[in-house]
Amino acid sequence: MSTQTIEPQQVTLKQLKPFYGPVQAVQPVDVTIRPRSVTAIIGPSGCGKSTVLRCINRMHETIAFARVEGQVLLLDEPCSALDPVSTYKIEELLVELKQRYTIVIVTHNMQQAARIADRTMVFMVDRTQARPLGVLVEEDVTNKIFTAPRDPRTEEYISGRVG
Ligand SMILES: Nc1ncnc2c1ncn2[C@@H]1O[C@H](COP(=O)(O)OP(=O)(O)OP(=O)(O)O)[C@@H](O)[C@H]1O
Ligand SMILES: [Mg+2]
Repeated sequence: MSTQTIEPQQVTLKQLKPFYGPVQAVQPVDVTIRPRSVTAIIGPSGCGKSTVLRCINRMHETIAFARVEGQVLLLDEPCSALDPVSTYKIEELLVELKQRYTIVIVTHNMQQAARIADRTMVFMVDRTQARPLGVLVEEDVTNKIFTAPRDPRTEEYISGRVG
């Protein structure tokens, strides 16, 4: 019997600009999501985390073969209703699975992002527009996001001052 190795995919978002009908929900997103790693998406409610995740999902649905070979795992707050022990088990599983997958996880739990994510995308809501608009404020190595963020909004968010 032959063994098939399926490579996890890199996900490249180039000027991803999600709309709901005529309404733009998030400012254009440019980011490369690496294979064999966990990428966390964090940010306050309404900043567009689920929207961006759904866009990635749709991209993969439209590339027929990617559904089979894509090896991209997208998770939207998978631990939100779980106790700490179950949360820990999920986190352990994700760290194991990242050897074979490209994993993107939306989480409100910043400790979780810090524990398991290699890289982190931080979104905020721009409320200076006619309608709230999600914006990717920075994407970097997780450790950098939590210890020396480039954008002052990241520091405010992770310290609980905005959002
Ligand atoms: N089905 C939809 N139709 C129209 N607008 C939507 C829809 N889903 C989300 N939105 C809008 O898009 C923006 C981003 O919403 P989204 O659900 O992606 O945020 P989120 O970061 O996942 O928030 P939360 O942390 O509460 O889950 C918000 O302004 C929201 O009102
Ligand atoms: Mg959401």
